[in-house]
Amino acid sequence: MASKTLFITGASSGIGAATARAAVAEGWRVGLFARSADKLQALVAELGEAAIALPGDAGDFDAQSAAIAEFVKRTGGLDAAFANAGTGLSAAGTEVGDPEEWERMIRLNVLGVLWTTKAAMPHLKARRGHLLLTGSAAGRRHISGSVYGASKWFVHGYGGNLSEEMKEFGGRCTVIAPGMVDTPFFDTPKPDKLQAEDVARAVLFALTAEPRCTVNEVFLMPTQ
Ligand SMILES: NC(=O)c1ccc[n+]([C@@H]2O[C@H](COP(=O)([O-])OP(=O)(O)OC[C@H]3O[C@@H](n4cnc5c(N)ncnc54)[C@H](OP(=O)(O)O)[C@@H]3O)[C@@H](O)[C@H]2O)c1
Repeated sequence: MASKTLFITGASSGIGAATARAAVAEGWRVGLFARSADKLQALVAELGEAAIALPGDAGDFDAQSAAIAEFVKRTGGLDAAFANAGTGLSAAGTEVGDPEEWERMIRLNVLGVLWTTKAAMPHLKARRGHLLLTGSAAGRRHISGSVYGASKWFVHGYGGNLSEEMKEFGGRCTVIAPGMVDTPFFDTPKPDKLQAEDVARAVLFALTAEPRCTVNEVFLMPTQ
C-alpha cells in the first residue's frame, strides 16, 4: 500500500520535528514546512526519502499554498496536514504587551493556521483527510491577560468548527492541546515537563484512529 502523506508546519524543531520522526517511523511520507531551510535539510538527511523539505513562512498564504502544491505534486496527494507552527510572546499580559509583537504572533498563530487549512482543504477533501491543529492548555483556561492564550482559544474554537465542516465530506479534525513541553519554545530546558515525543505520540494516535472515530481533542499535561 502507498504511504500516506502528512504536511507539517513548524517542522524544523520541537513538536513538529518529533511528529515528523514518529510519522516516518509509522510509514508516512512527510512534507516539512518552516523558515529554517538548514534545519529542514538536516531532518531530511536523517529521515531519508520519506521526508521533503519545503521551506517557507507560515504567515504567508501563497508560500503555504505553493508548498502544499509541491508536496502533492511529488507524492500524489494529501492525507493529513498538521498546522503546528506557532510562537509565544516576550511579555505576557495586556498592560505591558507589545502591539507589534502581538501582530507578528497573530499572523502566525491565527492567520498561519487559517492559511494551512485553506491551502490543504481541497486536497484533504479529495481523500477524506485529516487536519490537526496545535492548540494548548492555554487555549482551554483563562490566564491573566494572556494574548498568546487567546490565540490558542482561536485554534480550539476554529478546530471545533472545522470538525463540523469536514464531517460533511467524511474528513476529520483534531486539536492537540499540550501543557508545557520541553522545546526551544522556551529559553531554558524543562526536563520534567512533557517531551516533544509525547505530543508526537498523541498526533499519531489521532491520525491512526479507525476512520469511523474522530479524535476531536487530545489534552496532555505534564504529571509534575
Ligand atoms: N512548548 C510548549 O510548552 C507548548 C505548549 C502548548 C502549545 N505549544 C505550541 O506548539 C507549537 C510548536 O511549538 P514548539 O513547542 O514545538 O516550539 P518550537 O520548537 O519553537 O517550534 C516552533 C516551530 O514553528 C516554526 N515557526 C516559527 N515561526 C514560523 C513562521 N513564521 N513560519 C513557519 N514556521 C515558523 C519554527 O521554525 P522556524 O523558526 O524554522 O520557522 C519551529 O519549527 C506552537 O504552536 C506552540 O504554540 C507549545
